[in-house]
This record gives sequence, C-alpha cells and structure tokens, in this order.
Amino acid sequence: MSDSITSMLQENRLFEPSEHFRTHIGPIAVPDLKTYHEMYRKSIDDPGGFWGEIAKDFDWYQPWEKVVEWNLPDAKWFVGGTTNVCANCVDRQIKRGHGDELAILWEGEPCSPDPEIRRLTYLDLLREVSQTANALKSMGVKRGDVVTIYMGMVPELAIAMLACARIGAPHSVIFGGFASPAIVDRVQDAQSKIIITCDGSWRRGQIVALKKNVDDACEKLPEVKNVLVVRRTQSPITMHAGRDHWWHDLVPTQSPECPCEEMNSEDLLFLLYTSGSTGKPKGICHTTAGYMIYTAQTARVTFNLVPKHNHVFFCTADIGWITGHSYIVYGMLPNRVPTIMYEGAPNFPAEDRFWSMVARHKVTHFYTAPTAIRAFMKWGDEHPRKHDLSSLLLLGTVGEPINPEAWIWYHQNIGQSRCPIVDTMWQTETGGHIITPLPGCTPTVPGSCTLPAFGIDAAVVNEKGEELPANHGGLLVIRRPWPGMLRGIHGDRARFIETYWTKVPGMYIAGDGARRDERGYFWIMGRIDDVINVSGHRLGTMEVESALVSHPAVVEAAVVGIPHEIKGTGIAAFVTLSPHFKGATDDSLRKQLMEHVTKEIGPIARPDMIRFTMLLPKTRSGKIMRRLLRDIAVGKESTQDTTTLEDFNALAKLRESDE
Ligand code: PRX
Repeated sequence: MSDSITSMLQENRLFEPSEHFRTHIGPIAVPDLKTYHEMYRKSIDDPGGFWGEIAKDFDWYQPWEKVVEWNLPDAKWFVGGTTNVCANCVDRQIKRGHGDELAILWEGEPCSPDPEIRRLTYLDLLREVSQTANALKSMGVKRGDVVTIYMGMVPELAIAMLACARIGAPHSVIFGGFASPAIVDRVQDAQSKIIITCDGSWRRGQIVALKKNVDDACEKLPEVKNVLVVRRTQSPITMHAGRDHWWHDLVPTQSPECPCEEMNSEDLLFLLYTSGSTGKPKGICHTTAGYMIYTAQTARVTFNLVPKHNHVFFCTADIGWITGHSYIVYGMLPNRVPTIMYEGAPNFPAEDRFWSMVARHKVTHFYTAPTAIRAFMKWGDEHPRKHDLSSLLLLGTVGEPINPEAWIWYHQNIGQSRCPIVDTMWQTETGGHIITPLPGCTPTVPGSCTLPAFGIDAAVVNEKGEELPANHGGLLVIRRPWPGMLRGIHGDRARFIETYWTKVPGMYIAGDGARRDERGYFWIMGRIDDVINVSGHRLGTMEVESALVSHPAVVEAAVVGIPHEIKGTGIAAFVTLSPHFKGATDDSLRKQLMEHVTKEIGPIARPDMIRFTMLLPKTRSGKIMRRLLRDIAVGKESTQDTTTLEDFNALAKLRESDE
C-alpha cells in the first residue's frame, strides 16, 4: 500500500455532502460542521452529560449512578446501571409496537436460480432467540459461561449471539474461515465448554467443512461437553453421541419464553480474538452497556439511520469480525433499521452478486472494505451497470486505508456520484467507529477518514505524547476513555497494559501511524507493529511464522507484508529449511507450505510468495530485519543501514535466491 499512501499525500479533491443525500435520507443527525464541532466539544468536555443523555434512550432495569469512572487504563461506564443488550435489540422494539417490522433479512449463497431468502421480524427474533437461550440453558450454560460460536453466515449465528446476550453468557465468535488449530487456541483461552456450529457453510459454491473442523479441534479439547449443530449444507458429518446435538431437534422444542438476565453495565458481553504482534491472538473484552450504546450511537450518526425511512442496511462483512458484530447485529437492531446478512462470496454465481442484492432488496446503505472495492474495479464496471442501484443513499468503507483510485471508482460506479462515502476508521478494540465523516455534514477527501467521532479524543503524537504539527506523521492515540473501548485482554492483564498503555504513557495507542492535515483531517498510514492487514483482515506476522515453523521442513521463518493490488497487503515469507529435509523440489515444497499455513490458520493467511534462504538477516541483538526483507520481497534496493547485520552473507544469499 505504500505507493497509494504516497499518492494520498497529494490528494486534495473535496466532496461536499450531496443535495440528493440531504433530501432523501430523512432528518440529518448532524446537519453541518458547526454543529459537529459544538457536539464534539461537549462530548469531550462533558462526557457524563453527553453520553448520559444518549443512554436515556435505552431500556434499563436500574439506572446508572455515574456515567464514567476513569482509573487509567480502566474505564467503567454507566456504573451501577443494569440492562440487557438482547432486550434493547429485540424486546424493546416489540414493546413499542414494532414487532412485525423487519429486523434481519438473510440471503443464502446458492441460487438455483433464485436465492433462498429469510425475513425475520422482531417477533420472530424474540421467539427464536428465546428458544435458543433455553436450549443453551438445557445444556448447562449459565450466566458468565463463554459460548464459542463457529458458524457460517446463517441467521442462527445472529440468533445464537442474541441468545447468549439474553442469558448473560458471553460469546466468542470465531470466523468460519479459520482452521481447526485456531478453534483449539481460542476455546482453550476462553475456557469454553460449548461450541455452536453448522454442518458446513457455502462459499463460492463449495462447502466449508465447519463441523469437521470442530471435530478435529475437539480431539484436543476434552473440556468441550456440548456441540450444537445447525444443518445448512446437508453434507455428511459425524454426530458424536452425548456431545453433539442438532439445532433442529433441540431448539424448536424449547419454550419460547425466556426472561432476560439483568446484567451489570460492566458485565462481559463478548470476547473477540484478534491478532497482535505475538503469535497468540488476544481475546478482546467488550462489556454490556458501553459497547451497546457506543455501537448503536455511532451506527445512528455515521450512517444517519432513521427508522421508518425505508432504510435497508447491507454490511458485507462476516460476523466473525468486529465489523459484523457491531454493524450487522448490535449497532443496527437498537436503531430499528433492517440489516442484511449475506451468506456467501461477492462473485457467486457471478461478479454482480452484491449489485443484484442491492436492487432486489432496495438497499439504501452499503458498507464494505477497500479490498472488495479493488476487486469490483478489476471485475469491471459492467457488473454494477447491469442493476438498478438507485435505492442507494450512502456508502461506507472499513478495514484499511482506501486508495483514492478505489474511492473515486466507488463514488462514481456504485454511488453514481450522488452518495456520500463514509471512510470509517476503527478497530476490534474500539468497539465502534473512532474517526469518520458524518454524511450530510463532513466534506470528504478520498483517502482520509476525516474527523474524530463524538467522545474520541484522537491525536497524532510522538513517543512522549506530544501532539505533532499538521502533516507530521506520528502515532495515533486516544487520550480519554470512550464507552465502546475494550476493557481488557481476556486473562492477560500485563499484555493489555503493555500493548495499549505503555508506549505513550497515559494514552491508548491504536497501533497505527497517522497524520493530520491542515484541515484537521486524519490520514491513516498503516500499522506500526507486526500486524498486517490482508484483504482488510488483521493478521499477525508471528502467527504465520509459527504456522510455517510447525512444518517439519522449516527451521526458521520471517513474514512481511508486501503491496498487493487487490488485498492491499500480501504475505511474503522467507524460510530457512532444515538440512535434514530431503525429497521435495522447491516448487512442490512451496505449495506444501502454502497448504500447511492454510490448514493451520485458514485461507486468509496463505502466503503469496515464499522464498527459501540459507540465513535470515538479523541485527546483532538477534532481531530479524523486516524492513530489509520487505525491500527484497518487492525487489527494491534497500535504503536501510545494514551495518548491524549479523551476517552480510545473509543479504547476498537472499538477493541471489530465486523466487
Ligand atoms: O490499521 C487499521 C485498519 O484496521 C485495523 C483494525 O483492524 P481490526 O481490528 O481487524 O478491525 C477492522 C474493522 C474495524 C486498524 O488498526 N483500519 C480499519 N479501518 C480503517 C483502517 N485503516 C485505515 N482506514 C480505515 N478506515
């Protein structure tokens, strides 16, 4: 991405909010920049007043006594209050007379010739969620027990999450594209005793063997006592007597009545594992009231959601990532705007799948990742042109910096030059958007995520925490707590403090480089740690390295990110082989290693390039010189000082080695 980031630096096209948006979206939440600045000031100067006012709009059992308590690095929000997230997503809408309205619209991947569609109203959700909650109870799940969910994008996934929230059992959703070792690590770390899964899931016309992956994982997980299985693909699977239960046998026979647990504001709502700079993913903790209020508020304002304005929201993310948690499920349902869940790939059966869905469901809001946009560009303009996209009012992007070429293509070809684009910057840890334009309010510049969200005291600083002048690159930090912030890393207090709170003392460090321009707009310059962003998916280079060295042929491995036309960042691996390893030719071994990583982590971690080398370049203190490897991977003469290289031969050998 470095080339497109350089081009961002010169970007100065300014797009004012369009008249079309202003006249069609309904009332504008924040109508102009003056209002934004006033509201932003209040949110920073008086967080108690600002968030207290917003929280009044939710359903509580006990009101809070104090909005925020800040004891760095620990924040508590809505202290003393009790509520339930499921009640605010589902029951509240029914209580207010909206039970028959559409809550979730699901579309399956197979089209033969028409796709399967399910429409769930709030009343449907209440029944199915309550029955699922009772099924979980019947398997011994109690308040506080972590439920692991490893499913495809089927309605039962959202239902299972809401059922967990209803009974106060935190969920840990594992992306269905991960392989079985990833399940083992996460289940063990969370000490979870139950897994909800599917027989398989549909992806580009193929079946992903989810249940088989769970079975493999369970061989190493004697603590898992129950596995609940949704039948989706009808593929043959093995059901283990006593441990495995079919969803369709257990759930529909349960009572449709299940009262919500009265949860404390700071009770754990879910864990979501994400990659960091070590090989071990971290279980990010999000709690009840702060997360609920922050995601619903950011969804309402960033997307200008207005109930009963015929809005239909389509976020293309998988619920296995934070984007799906926050902006398919938890941020959407309290806003009473129908949310779409799509099961499969964007190019199945053809490259126009999303656009046919936009036309079919009259989608008004479309939210996707830059990597997807680059794929759409490559597939060609003719695909969106085949469909009626006139229902679209607003576009969004998330997951990685967007290159201006992709932004402009999205604006012209999908937004037909009338839809604002919100480039939303945030992270698993932040719960919801932290820097984003507000549509109808913020003029946008392609490639910039513009201004901080309400309550986010974002800044670009040096390592001492001093704010840098305009256009100086530095560290992105947040200097005050916000309701959606992570409350910790599950079971690892030291890592929580070390990762987020020590590099710049007293401030939350996001792990991204950034600059602010003279307008005050933020430009994200990419990760500053050993995390890479592959197709908008976060991966630790160490995770891929660990997977590689678990292969018997590999002694040592170093992984770096390299620019990739579609993925944004691709994966290059440098591998030293065991002298005892004989047999395979370079090409077949390269393939074997690629397969091995896919098996260990999942297809997203498959290296794009593997190079064999006798030695890896290291500093005298033994650190692998990653920047040097990156330069070699992209064929650049390195500008890096190599005088600390332990062995100059390593560099020469790498240059010689073929690809
Ligand atoms: O580097 C930033 C990038 O994605 C990282 C967070 O990844 P994850 O926790 O998986 O969450 C992704 C979805 C919220 C960030 O540290 N990132 C995310 N959104 C943007 C972005 N970089 C630039 N612009 C964005 N809009």
